[in-house]
Amino acid sequence: MYTSQDEQRLYQQAKTLLTSESGNVEQDIEALREVINYADWKYYVQSEPVLADVEYDTLFKKLKGLEEQYPEQVTADSPTQRVALGLSEKFPAVSHLVPMLSLDNTYNADDLRDWDRRCRELAGTDQIEYCAEPKYDGASVSVIYEDGKLTRGATRGDGIMGEDVTVNIKQIRSMPLSAGFTKEGISQIEIRGEVVIHKDVFAEYNRQRAAEGLSPLANPRNAASGTLRILDPREVGKRKLSVTLYHISDYTLERGKDVPAKLHTHYDSLEYLYSLGFPTPVREMKRFSNIEDVIKFCDEFEQKRDDLPFEVDGLVIKVNQFDLQDRMGMTTHHPRWAVAYKFKARQATSKLQRVEFQVGRTGSVTPVAKIEPVPIGGVTVTSISLFNEDVVREKDLHIGDTVLVERAGDVIPYIVKPLAELRDGSEEKIVFPTHCPVCNEALERPEEEAVWRCININCPAQVVERIIHFASKDAMDIRNLGGANILKFYDLELLKDIPGIYHLDFDKIKQLEGFGEKSITNLRTAIDNSKKQPLNRVIFGLGIRHVGETMAKTLANAVNHIRELYDWDEEKLVSLEDVGPKVAASVAHFFHNPENRHMIDLLEKEGVNLESHHKSQRQAEGGLLGKTFLFTGTLSHFKRSDAEAMVEDKGGTLLSGVSSKLNYLVVGEDAGSKLEKAKKLGTVTILTETEFLELITK
Ligand code: IVH
Repeated sequence: MYTSQDEQRLYQQAKTLLTSESGNVEQDIEALREVINYADWKYYVQSEPVLADVEYDTLFKKLKGLEEQYPEQVTADSPTQRVALGLSEKFPAVSHLVPMLSLDNTYNADDLRDWDRRCRELAGTDQIEYCAEPKYDGASVSVIYEDGKLTRGATRGDGIMGEDVTVNIKQIRSMPLSAGFTKEGISQIEIRGEVVIHKDVFAEYNRQRAAEGLSPLANPRNAASGTLRILDPREVGKRKLSVTLYHISDYTLERGKDVPAKLHTHYDSLEYLYSLGFPTPVREMKRFSNIEDVIKFCDEFEQKRDDLPFEVDGLVIKVNQFDLQDRMGMTTHHPRWAVAYKFKARQATSKLQRVEFQVGRTGSVTPVAKIEPVPIGGVTVTSISLFNEDVVREKDLHIGDTVLVERAGDVIPYIVKPLAELRDGSEEKIVFPTHCPVCNEALERPEEEAVWRCININCPAQVVERIIHFASKDAMDIRNLGGANILKFYDLELLKDIPGIYHLDFDKIKQLEGFGEKSITNLRTAIDNSKKQPLNRVIFGLGIRHVGETMAKTLANAVNHIRELYDWDEEKLVSLEDVGPKVAASVAHFFHNPENRHMIDLLEKEGVNLESHHKSQRQAEGGLLGKTFLFTGTLSHFKRSDAEAMVEDKGGTLLSGVSSKLNYLVVGEDAGSKLEKAKKLGTVTILTETEFLELITK
């Protein structure tokens, strides 16, 4: 791990490298690699970024530039090498140094007590320590480091042989490409861990898929294991996988070296890996000297499982002492010194009663399963999207089927499969409509698409959905104008299209039931405020096919005014980062359509902001580039999140604690230890809220 001196030095080094070079290429390359590895570790392992995105990108580009100029200086563990070339063939099979066994499962306290009894018998002692850590619900991998360099990463496969997915493993930013094993005389080591996708990353990924008309991935576990097998490592890199290493399965020492003390217990071995820069369960794991305390911990942990940023399906309890582990041995299936404690399943069975067909904003007709209400993980599930006809056919679903339903954490519920063995012959086929259930237009299924569409763009269902999308939280964020109100206004002919939001007849709305003075004022204010939303939100709100939030930002950053997009052709669009031919075609099609242009003109007349301010330009002009901030105490002039956004907007960086790296501490009321520490340091400028506002608006 990095000492605080290391951290201070590397931080200074990063700042220096931003603006100057030593002139000695080798030295500069080394220094850049060192700070980028450090910044990656802070960001991906510690979740405490030390550099602003622009700063990181600048350093990365510098390193890339130098390596391009001096290709002989490129090494396999350079951070630039995470971005590898595509693979041409399927992944070669490789054998694991030690078979990747599975785990035995337990489901309750008594199971754990039985296991504890067996452990004490096998180990021949009552002096067993246990270590409990999360059971990550992802894809297991094993990685090998030789002479401190990551040389191989493989999937579990059948436990004996796995697939060599080294290039993809290297895309995981928290996986160190090299680590200081040689200091302990370790020449080769095989470590096991789990690749996962954090819940928020998964949700965002599915949002993007939905925007592109693709069906969402079922759960983070499938997403993680699927991603590891993608043939294009660049695509893997974009999916933002995470990893946790939880078991050293094998290591070789240089001749004459003794087993390091750090490798006497499981707990210490994970602390050791953590100290070398590996993400390990150090934050969550705990040691116990008896099984009753383990059981208590299991209960407490299960309550908190939804608070974790990743999915867990239980805890793994391991005997801590390695000498005892060796004594206990393993079966052909699992080690005897470890056991999984599985949390309550988030699955249930229910009856598929009927299927409804909903028309979305792009005319897509989505089958929605209505099931007998069933509680899963504290929520009653009644409705489940079936995405498209192919999904229904693949799963071979029938009306009347008993279905297995899963709902994991924040993930939307989905039907795993029908229980075909429970059919009695009364089940009925699901019939897809040939005409729009709302406007009766004949449905079409475009080639290469999985969805049926109503192509009548004036179909009331689509119009309403388009307005709902425009006003939604992630688009123009017009609170008080949710789906129910939009539908009501539409039915009463008070609202017929998106620009109509900006000239609602409030006198008429006032007469409707449920609309008091206050709710009208709130609605009016929310609508007015939305006129100032940044351009990326407007573009996202327009509901252009294949344009999700990220793509909307890309487009907004590329222009000064939305009207510039009227003249962009597909060729120009694909020149933007991440814009492929499909997106380009859709964007060009949208902006070339006179009706859409007319709608945009109307929005401008209503005073909606259609201008862009490039973020980097704003940041450069913001004048806080390279400055670090921390807020403490109760702020009374503004919300902390707003103030933090202002700092970042102007190029500043937020820190999470007081250290010599901190430039400004902004103090509200009842500031405590942070203020004391900053005063003691003497290098931090302490600002009141007013002084902060002056600084930021200067
Ligand atoms: S230890 C030889 N620790 O659960 C012991 N496994 O259901 C190796 N898993 O195949 C496993 N979190 O992929 C261990 N903290 C953890 C784990 C963990 C998840 C996975 C692992 C294993 C599966 C068994």
